[in-house]
Amino acid sequence: MQIFTTAEALRDYLDRAPGPIAFVPTMGALHEGHLALVRAARADHPTVVCSIFVNPTQFNEAADLEAYPRTPEADAALLAGVDCEVLYLPDVEDVYPTGTAVSLAEQLDFGSLTTRMEGAHRPGHFAGVAQVVSRLLEIVRPTTLVMGQKDYQQVAVVRSMIAQLGLGVVLRAVATVREADGLAMSSRNRRLGPAERQAAPAINRHLAAVVAGLRAGWPARQLEALALDGLRRHPLLDPEYVEICHGDTLLPYTEGETSREIVVATAVRCGPVRLIDNHALAAP
Ligand code: PAJ
Repeated sequence: MQIFTTAEALRDYLDRAPGPIAFVPTMGALHEGHLALVRAARADHPTVVCSIFVNPTQFNEAADLEAYPRTPEADAALLAGVDCEVLYLPDVEDVYPTGTAVSLAEQLDFGSLTTRMEGAHRPGHFAGVAQVVSRLLEIVRPTTLVMGQKDYQQVAVVRSMIAQLGLGVVLRAVATVREADGLAMSSRNRRLGPAERQAAPAINRHLAAVVAGLRAGWPARQLEALALDGLRRHPLLDPEYVEICHGDTLLPYTEGETSREIVVATAVRCGPVRLIDNHALAAP
């Protein structure tokens, strides 16, 4: 695997690499969820580029940025193990040579996609995500961008950004990879203590119960309230929201309104970390 720390060296290599190129942006502390994205890219792209960059502009809490796990050596070994050709490991100056203040992403209008859930609870987060993903796409110039459904709202925002900027890159979304007990894999899981780790799978169980309820025809608002209440009862879990939304607009799902997909999403504080998860289902 080739490792580059500057955009210039990376570009020089990619200009001669066989296409089409697939790109998997990450913040490192890699796990099977990230590797699933690389494998999904690997299947039909001769060149796969993975980036590891803990983007400061998308963290709305300084402590979260500070504590974000960083394991570059283990990450490189995992990527080599799934046949990733190229790893881009830049520093902040390489990604933002003119500083982080002015961003193309600020010219974008995400409408309802960023007003609720993560958009409401993490001010500035999606502006930072759009800023870094647009910059990384400018550097890597891939045919396909591969991202995880684990961050459902992030996929929706990036899809909208690609359309608004006319970037012409294909966005491929890969299903969430879970631990055996159902907990969605996340880099932040490694910060959970043993009791918290035992409590966290309840998040997935509550989401599954909401999906079962929707399929049985229960009203969405009632299911949200039940799940929120159930999660709140757990001494180690502190839910911020449970929302049932239309997958395309991310506005609250209302029975009878047409929608291709419905998504049930939640954010739950568990000990030192904030975990997010979602289940998507075809609309009835
Ligand atoms: P990060 O949290 O490292 O995730 C990188 C990619 O891996 C994202 O597309 C995310 O959705 C996906 N992913 C994470 N956990 C997953 C799981 N359990 N199953 C499947 N896919 C999973 O998301 C980010 O980084 C950043 O916001 C980034 C897009 C890199 C911009 O900085």
